[in-house]
Amino acid sequence: MVVGFFKSCSRTVSNALSSNIRVAARNVRELYLTALVLIVGYVALVVSGCSVTSWKSTLGRNHPLTGRIWDVSSARFIDRQSLVTRLARADFLLLGERHDNPDHHLLQAEVLRSLIALGRRPAVGFEMFGLDDASAIANHLAFAPNDAAGLGRAVNWNKRGWPDWAMYQPIAEVALEAKLRIVATNLPLATARKMSSDGLAALEPRVVGDLGLDRPPSESVFASIAADIRDSHCGYGSEESVKLMVGVQRARDAQMAQSLIAADDPDGAILVAGAGHVRNDYGIPVYLTAKAAGKQVISIAFLEVDNQKPEPDNYALPDPNGRLPFDFVWFTARVDDENPCEKFKSQFEHLKRRSDK
Ligand code: HEM
Repeated sequence: MVVGFFKSCSRTVSNALSSNIRVAARNVRELYLTALVLIVGYVALVVSGCSVTSWKSTLGRNHPLTGRIWDVSSARFIDRQSLVTRLARADFLLLGERHDNPDHHLLQAEVLRSLIALGRRPAVGFEMFGLDDASAIANHLAFAPNDAAGLGRAVNWNKRGWPDWAMYQPIAEVALEAKLRIVATNLPLATARKMSSDGLAALEPRVVGDLGLDRPPSESVFASIAADIRDSHCGYGSEESVKLMVGVQRARDAQMAQSLIAADDPDGAILVAGAGHVRNDYGIPVYLTAKAAGKQVISIAFLEVDNQKPEPDNYALPDPNGRLPFDFVWFTARVDDENPCEKFKSQFEHLKRRSDK
Protein backbone atom coordinates (compact mmCIF):
# COMPACT_ATOMS: atom_id res chain seq x y z
CA MET A 1 0.00 0.00 0.00
CA VAL A 2 1.27 3.43 -0.95
CA VAL A 3 0.58 4.89 2.44
CA GLY A 4 2.48 2.08 4.11
CA PHE A 5 5.62 3.29 2.39
CA PHE A 6 5.14 6.98 2.89
CA LYS A 7 4.75 8.57 6.25
CA SER A 8 3.55 12.13 6.45
CA CYS A 9 6.39 14.62 6.27
CA SER A 10 5.39 16.34 9.47
CA ARG A 11 5.47 13.03 11.30
CA THR A 12 8.76 12.12 9.68
CA VAL A 13 10.25 15.39 10.87
CA SER A 14 8.99 15.07 14.42
CA ASN A 15 9.92 11.36 14.66
CA ALA A 16 13.40 12.04 13.31
CA LEU A 17 13.93 14.97 15.62
CA SER A 18 12.68 13.17 18.73
CA SER A 19 14.83 10.12 17.99
CA ASN A 20 17.77 12.50 17.49
CA ILE A 21 17.04 14.05 20.88
CA ARG A 22 16.89 10.64 22.56
CA VAL A 23 20.16 9.47 20.98
CA ALA A 24 21.97 12.70 21.76
CA ALA A 25 20.70 12.91 25.33
CA ARG A 26 21.60 9.27 26.11
CA ASN A 27 25.12 9.19 24.61
CA VAL A 28 26.44 12.64 25.25
CA ARG A 29 24.14 14.14 27.87
CA GLU A 30 25.15 17.61 26.98
CA LEU A 31 22.56 20.13 26.10
CA TYR A 32 24.51 22.03 23.46
CA LEU A 33 25.12 18.83 21.50
CA THR A 34 21.42 18.04 21.62
CA ALA A 35 20.73 21.46 20.16
CA LEU A 36 23.34 20.92 17.46
CA VAL A 37 21.82 17.56 16.52
CA LEU A 38 18.40 19.17 16.35
CA ILE A 39 19.60 21.91 14.03
CA VAL A 40 21.50 19.52 11.76
CA GLY A 41 18.53 17.14 11.63
CA TYR A 42 16.18 19.97 10.84
CA VAL A 43 18.39 21.39 8.08
CA ALA A 44 18.93 17.92 6.58
CA LEU A 45 15.21 17.27 6.43
CA VAL A 46 14.39 20.66 4.98
CA VAL A 47 17.18 20.38 2.40
CA SER A 48 15.95 16.89 1.49
CA GLY A 49 12.66 18.57 0.54
CA CYS A 50 10.59 17.32 3.44
CA SER A 51 7.94 19.75 4.60
CA VAL A 52 7.71 21.29 8.02
CA THR A 53 4.27 22.68 8.62
CA SER A 54 2.88 23.88 11.90
CA TRP A 55 -0.81 23.43 11.34
CA LYS A 56 -3.41 25.89 12.54
CA SER A 57 -6.13 23.28 12.14
CA THR A 58 -6.17 20.85 15.01
CA LEU A 59 -7.66 17.71 13.47
CA GLY A 60 -5.90 15.07 11.40
CA ARG A 61 -2.39 16.31 12.07
CA ASN A 62 -1.16 12.72 12.48
CA HIS A 63 -3.04 11.31 9.50
CA PRO A 64 -0.58 9.52 7.18
CA LEU A 65 -1.37 11.90 4.30
CA THR A 66 -1.18 15.20 6.19
CA GLY A 67 1.41 17.50 4.66
CA ARG A 68 1.99 15.25 1.68
CA ILE A 69 1.69 16.34 -1.94
CA TRP A 70 0.20 13.92 -4.47
CA ASP A 71 1.08 14.21 -8.14
CA VAL A 72 -2.09 12.89 -9.76
CA SER A 73 -0.79 12.08 -13.25
CA SER A 74 2.20 10.08 -12.07
CA ALA A 75 0.36 8.71 -9.02
CA ARG A 76 3.19 9.40 -6.60
CA PHE A 77 4.07 11.74 -3.80
CA ILE A 78 6.45 14.60 -4.47
CA ASP A 79 8.19 17.03 -2.14
CA ARG A 80 7.65 20.79 -2.00
CA GLN A 81 10.76 21.61 -3.94
CA SER A 82 9.70 19.38 -6.86
CA LEU A 83 6.24 20.90 -6.77
CA VAL A 84 7.57 24.45 -6.93
CA THR A 85 9.87 23.48 -9.81
CA ARG A 86 6.85 22.16 -11.72
CA LEU A 87 4.71 25.21 -10.91
CA ALA A 88 7.43 27.61 -12.02
CA ARG A 89 6.57 26.81 -15.65
CA ALA A 90 2.80 27.33 -15.36
CA ASP A 91 1.14 30.20 -17.18
CA PHE A 92 -2.01 29.86 -15.10
CA LEU A 93 -1.87 28.39 -11.64
CA LEU A 94 -5.10 27.66 -9.81
CA LEU A 95 -4.94 27.17 -6.04
CA GLY A 96 -8.12 25.46 -4.79
CA GLU A 97 -9.04 25.69 -1.12
CA ARG A 98 -11.62 24.94 1.50
CA HIS A 99 -12.55 28.54 2.24
CA ASP A 100 -12.50 28.36 6.03
CA ASN A 101 -9.27 26.38 6.44
CA PRO A 102 -6.53 28.86 7.47
CA ASP A 103 -3.81 26.34 6.56
CA HIS A 104 -4.97 26.38 2.96
CA HIS A 105 -4.42 30.13 2.80
CA LEU A 106 -1.03 29.95 4.44
CA LEU A 107 0.05 27.31 1.92
CA GLN A 108 -1.32 29.40 -0.96
CA ALA A 109 0.78 32.31 0.35
CA GLU A 110 3.77 30.01 0.60
CA VAL A 111 3.39 28.78 -2.99
CA LEU A 112 3.17 32.36 -4.21
CA ARG A 113 6.24 33.35 -2.18
CA SER A 114 8.22 30.40 -3.60
CA LEU A 115 7.34 31.38 -7.17
CA ILE A 116 8.31 35.00 -6.56
CA ALA A 117 11.64 33.76 -5.17
CA LEU A 118 12.16 32.03 -8.52
CA GLY A 119 11.59 35.30 -10.33
CA ARG A 120 7.94 34.83 -11.34
CA ARG A 121 5.65 37.88 -11.21
CA PRO A 122 2.13 36.68 -12.05
CA ALA A 123 -1.07 38.67 -11.60
CA VAL A 124 -3.00 37.45 -8.57
CA GLY A 125 -6.77 36.88 -8.68
CA PHE A 126 -9.27 35.91 -6.02
CA GLU A 127 -12.60 34.16 -6.63
CA MET A 128 -14.07 36.50 -4.02
CA PHE A 129 -13.34 39.68 -5.99
CA GLY A 130 -16.09 40.32 -8.54
CA LEU A 131 -15.50 42.49 -11.59
CA ASP A 132 -17.49 45.20 -9.85
CA ASP A 133 -14.80 45.31 -7.14
CA ALA A 134 -12.11 46.32 -9.62
CA SER A 135 -12.40 50.06 -9.04
CA ALA A 136 -12.45 49.73 -5.21
CA ILE A 137 -9.32 47.58 -5.42
CA ALA A 138 -7.58 50.02 -7.77
CA ASN A 139 -8.52 53.05 -5.64
CA HIS A 140 -7.31 51.41 -2.47
CA LEU A 141 -4.00 50.31 -3.94
CA ALA A 142 -3.40 53.69 -5.57
CA PHE A 143 -3.35 55.29 -2.11
CA ALA A 144 -2.02 52.41 -0.02
CA PRO A 145 -0.10 50.03 -2.29
CA ASN A 146 1.19 47.89 0.60
CA ASP A 147 -1.91 47.82 2.74
CA ALA A 148 -3.15 44.23 2.57
CA ALA A 149 -5.39 44.58 5.65
CA GLY A 150 -7.13 47.59 4.13
CA LEU A 151 -7.79 45.71 0.88
CA GLY A 152 -10.38 43.57 2.67
CA ARG A 153 -12.07 46.66 4.07
CA ALA A 154 -11.99 48.34 0.64
CA VAL A 155 -14.24 45.62 -0.82
CA ASN A 156 -16.43 45.19 2.31
CA TRP A 157 -15.14 41.65 2.56
CA ASN A 158 -16.41 40.87 6.04
CA LYS A 159 -19.99 41.75 5.12
CA ARG A 160 -20.11 39.20 2.31
CA GLY A 161 -20.27 35.91 4.19
CA TRP A 162 -16.71 34.81 3.41
CA PRO A 163 -14.41 33.63 6.23
CA ASP A 164 -12.55 36.50 7.86
CA TRP A 165 -10.29 38.49 5.54
CA ALA A 166 -7.47 37.95 8.07
CA MET A 167 -7.26 34.39 6.70
CA TYR A 168 -6.68 35.59 3.13
CA GLN A 169 -4.55 38.57 4.08
CA PRO A 170 -1.23 36.62 4.08
CA ILE A 171 -1.71 35.91 0.36
CA ALA A 172 -2.37 39.58 -0.38
CA GLU A 173 0.62 40.57 1.77
CA VAL A 174 2.97 38.40 -0.29
CA ALA A 175 1.49 39.76 -3.53
CA LEU A 176 1.65 43.42 -2.51
CA GLU A 177 5.11 43.16 -1.02
CA ALA A 178 6.33 41.92 -4.41
CA LYS A 179 4.26 44.63 -6.15
CA LEU A 180 2.21 42.07 -8.07
CA ARG A 181 -1.05 43.12 -9.66
CA ILE A 182 -4.24 42.05 -7.84
CA VAL A 183 -7.08 41.44 -10.25
CA ALA A 184 -10.85 41.07 -9.86
CA THR A 185 -12.01 37.94 -11.64
CA ASN A 186 -15.51 36.74 -10.82
CA LEU A 187 -19.01 37.65 -11.98
CA PRO A 188 -20.45 40.49 -9.93
CA LEU A 189 -22.47 39.08 -7.04
CA ALA A 190 -25.66 40.76 -8.25
CA THR A 191 -25.27 39.12 -11.67
CA ALA A 192 -24.79 35.67 -10.12
CA ARG A 193 -27.85 36.20 -7.92
CA LYS A 194 -29.90 37.24 -10.94
CA MET A 195 -28.69 34.17 -12.83
CA SER A 196 -29.93 31.99 -9.94
CA SER A 197 -33.47 33.00 -10.85
CA ASP A 198 -33.32 34.04 -14.53
CA GLY A 199 -30.59 31.79 -15.94
CA LEU A 200 -28.65 33.01 -18.97
CA ALA A 201 -31.24 35.73 -19.54
CA ALA A 202 -29.51 37.61 -16.70
CA LEU A 203 -26.46 38.08 -18.95
CA GLU A 204 -26.16 40.22 -22.05
CA PRO A 205 -26.22 37.99 -25.16
CA ARG A 206 -22.72 39.23 -26.05
CA VAL A 207 -21.41 38.09 -22.67
CA VAL A 208 -23.07 34.68 -23.07
CA GLY A 209 -21.22 34.26 -26.38
CA ASP A 210 -17.92 35.61 -25.05
CA LEU A 211 -17.99 33.20 -22.14
CA GLY A 212 -18.88 30.27 -24.42
CA LEU A 213 -22.08 29.64 -22.46
CA ASP A 214 -24.19 29.47 -25.62
CA ARG A 215 -22.95 25.89 -26.02
CA PRO A 216 -24.69 23.70 -23.43
CA PRO A 217 -22.52 21.35 -21.37
CA SER A 218 -22.39 17.68 -22.28
CA GLU A 219 -24.80 15.47 -20.36
CA SER A 220 -22.01 14.00 -18.28
CA VAL A 221 -20.55 17.41 -17.37
CA PHE A 222 -23.99 18.68 -16.44
CA ALA A 223 -24.61 15.56 -14.32
CA SER A 224 -21.26 15.94 -12.50
CA ILE A 225 -21.79 19.61 -11.65
CA ALA A 226 -25.39 18.99 -10.61
CA ALA A 227 -24.35 16.07 -8.39
CA ASP A 228 -21.69 18.23 -6.76
CA ILE A 229 -24.16 21.04 -6.14
CA ARG A 230 -26.85 18.70 -4.75
CA ASP A 231 -24.27 17.12 -2.49
CA SER A 232 -22.72 20.37 -1.23
CA HIS A 233 -26.13 21.84 -0.50
CA CYS A 234 -27.25 18.71 1.34
CA GLY A 235 -30.15 18.07 -1.00
CA TYR A 236 -31.77 21.46 -0.31
CA GLY A 237 -33.20 23.27 -3.30
CA SER A 238 -35.48 22.01 -6.06
CA GLU A 239 -34.19 20.31 -9.22
CA GLU A 240 -35.04 23.48 -11.12
CA SER A 241 -32.85 25.53 -8.77
CA VAL A 242 -30.01 22.98 -9.07
CA LYS A 243 -30.23 23.39 -12.84
CA LEU A 244 -30.00 27.17 -12.49
CA MET A 245 -27.06 26.84 -10.09
CA VAL A 246 -25.22 24.65 -12.60
CA GLY A 247 -25.58 27.59 -14.99
CA VAL A 248 -24.20 30.01 -12.38
CA GLN A 249 -21.30 27.71 -11.57
CA ARG A 250 -20.35 27.45 -15.26
CA ALA A 251 -20.71 31.20 -15.76
CA ARG A 252 -18.50 31.94 -12.75
CA ASP A 253 -15.83 29.52 -13.97
CA ALA A 254 -15.93 30.86 -17.51
CA GLN A 255 -15.74 34.45 -16.24
CA MET A 256 -12.82 33.71 -13.92
CA ALA A 257 -10.94 32.04 -16.78
CA GLN A 258 -11.64 34.97 -19.06
CA SER A 259 -10.49 37.48 -16.43
CA LEU A 260 -7.21 35.63 -15.91
CA ILE A 261 -6.59 35.70 -19.66
CA ALA A 262 -7.68 39.35 -19.86
CA ALA A 263 -5.18 40.25 -17.14
CA ASP A 264 -2.80 39.74 -20.04
CA ASP A 265 0.20 39.51 -17.82
CA PRO A 266 3.35 38.31 -19.57
CA ASP A 267 4.02 36.25 -16.47
CA GLY A 268 0.59 34.64 -16.34
CA ALA A 269 -1.75 34.58 -13.37
CA ILE A 270 -2.51 32.79 -10.14
CA LEU A 271 -6.02 32.32 -8.81
CA VAL A 272 -7.18 31.68 -5.26
CA ALA A 273 -10.55 29.90 -5.37
CA GLY A 274 -12.67 27.15 -3.88
CA ALA A 275 -11.45 23.67 -4.82
CA GLY A 276 -14.61 22.99 -6.88
CA HIS A 277 -13.70 25.82 -9.25
CA VAL A 278 -10.26 24.45 -10.06
CA ARG A 279 -11.41 20.96 -11.10
CA ASN A 280 -9.84 19.90 -14.38
CA ASP A 281 -12.95 18.03 -15.48
CA TYR A 282 -15.44 20.89 -15.46
CA GLY A 283 -13.96 23.96 -13.74
CA ILE A 284 -11.85 26.94 -14.77
CA PRO A 285 -9.10 24.82 -16.45
CA VAL A 286 -11.61 23.73 -19.12
CA TYR A 287 -12.25 27.34 -20.15
CA LEU A 288 -8.61 28.37 -19.90
CA THR A 289 -7.47 25.50 -22.08
CA ALA A 290 -10.15 26.26 -24.66
CA LYS A 291 -9.32 29.96 -24.90
CA ALA A 292 -5.60 30.09 -24.23
CA ALA A 293 -4.27 27.27 -26.37
CA GLY A 294 -0.64 26.47 -25.76
CA LYS A 295 -0.62 27.95 -22.26
CA GLN A 296 0.16 25.68 -19.38
CA VAL A 297 -2.59 25.43 -16.74
CA ILE A 298 -1.93 23.73 -13.42
CA SER A 299 -4.50 23.13 -10.69
CA ILE A 300 -3.72 22.30 -7.09
CA ALA A 301 -6.36 21.35 -4.55
CA PHE A 302 -5.70 21.66 -0.85
CA LEU A 303 -7.79 18.86 0.63
CA GLU A 304 -8.41 18.11 4.28
CA VAL A 305 -7.57 14.59 5.39
CA ASP A 306 -10.36 12.25 6.41
CA ASN A 307 -9.80 9.49 8.99
CA GLN A 308 -11.72 7.03 6.82
CA LYS A 309 -9.52 7.76 3.80
CA PRO A 310 -5.90 6.70 4.16
CA GLU A 311 -5.02 6.69 0.42
CA PRO A 312 -5.02 9.59 -2.10
CA ASP A 313 -7.39 7.80 -4.46
CA ASN A 314 -9.97 7.58 -1.69
CA TYR A 315 -10.42 11.33 -2.21
CA ALA A 316 -11.48 11.01 -5.85
CA LEU A 317 -14.65 13.05 -6.08
CA PRO A 318 -17.55 11.68 -8.06
CA ASP A 319 -15.70 11.32 -11.34
CA PRO A 320 -16.29 8.75 -14.05
CA ASN A 321 -12.55 8.05 -14.21
CA GLY A 322 -12.28 7.62 -10.45
CA ARG A 323 -9.30 9.98 -10.54
CA LEU A 324 -8.74 13.14 -8.58
CA PRO A 325 -9.66 15.96 -10.98
CA PHE A 326 -6.61 18.12 -10.17
CA ASP A 327 -2.94 18.09 -11.18
CA PHE A 328 -1.74 18.06 -7.59
CA VAL A 329 -3.38 17.53 -4.24
CA TRP A 330 -1.81 18.90 -1.08
CA PHE A 331 -3.28 17.11 1.94
CA THR A 332 -3.75 19.18 5.09
CA ALA A 333 -5.03 18.98 8.64
CA ARG A 334 -8.74 19.73 8.95
CA VAL A 335 -10.66 22.45 10.68
CA ASP A 336 -13.53 20.53 12.21
CA ASP A 337 -15.59 17.36 12.15
CA GLU A 338 -18.94 19.12 12.09
CA ASN A 339 -21.52 17.83 9.68
CA PRO A 340 -21.78 20.65 7.07
CA CYS A 341 -25.47 19.90 6.64
CA GLU A 342 -26.00 20.81 10.32
CA LYS A 343 -23.38 23.55 10.43
CA PHE A 344 -24.87 25.50 7.52
CA LYS A 345 -28.48 24.50 8.12
CA SER A 346 -29.79 28.06 8.41
CA GLN A 347 -28.11 29.03 5.11
CA PHE A 348 -29.56 25.97 3.40
CA GLU A 349 -33.03 26.79 4.75
CA HIS A 350 -32.58 30.21 3.11
CA LEU A 351 -31.64 28.49 -0.15
CA LYS A 352 -34.73 26.29 0.11
CA ARG A 353 -37.00 29.29 0.69
CA ARG A 354 -35.51 30.96 -2.38
CA SER A 355 -35.93 27.93 -4.60
CA ASP A 356 -39.51 27.34 -3.33
CA LYS A 357 -40.54 30.82 -4.52
C1 HEM B 1 -20.90 24.18 2.82
C2 HEM B 1 -20.76 24.71 1.64
C3 HEM B 1 -21.82 25.57 0.99
C4 HEM B 1 -22.80 26.35 1.53
C5 HEM B 1 -23.11 26.59 2.99
C6 HEM B 1 -23.52 26.94 0.43
C7 HEM B 1 -24.61 27.75 0.57
C8 HEM B 1 -25.24 28.40 -0.47
C9 HEM B 1 -26.36 29.31 -0.33
C10 HEM B 1 -27.06 29.68 0.97
C11 HEM B 1 -26.67 29.76 -1.58
C12 HEM B 1 -27.79 30.74 -1.96
C13 HEM B 1 -27.18 32.11 -1.95
C14 HEM B 1 -28.22 33.16 -2.26
O1 HEM B 1 -28.44 33.36 -3.44
O2 HEM B 1 -28.79 33.72 -1.35
C15 HEM B 1 -25.75 29.14 -2.50
C16 HEM B 1 -25.71 29.39 -3.85
C17 HEM B 1 -24.89 28.74 -4.74
N1 HEM B 1 -23.97 27.77 -4.44
FE1 HEM B 1 -23.48 27.12 -2.59
N2 HEM B 1 -22.95 26.53 -0.74
C18 HEM B 1 -21.91 25.69 -0.45
C19 HEM B 1 -21.07 25.04 -1.33
C20 HEM B 1 -21.17 25.14 -2.70
C21 HEM B 1 -20.36 24.39 -3.64
C22 HEM B 1 -19.26 23.39 -3.26
C23 HEM B 1 -20.76 24.76 -4.87
C24 HEM B 1 -20.26 24.29 -6.21
C25 HEM B 1 -20.21 23.05 -6.57
C26 HEM B 1 -21.79 25.76 -4.72
C27 HEM B 1 -22.41 26.40 -5.76
C28 HEM B 1 -23.38 27.36 -5.60
C29 HEM B 1 -23.92 28.11 -6.71
C30 HEM B 1 -23.51 28.00 -8.16
C31 HEM B 1 -24.88 28.98 -6.18
C32 HEM B 1 -25.73 30.00 -6.95
C33 HEM B 1 -25.45 31.44 -6.60
C34 HEM B 1 -24.02 31.90 -6.56
O3 HEM B 1 -23.14 31.28 -7.13
O4 HEM B 1 -23.77 32.92 -5.92
N3 HEM B 1 -22.00 25.95 -3.39
N4 HEM B 1 -24.90 28.32 -1.81
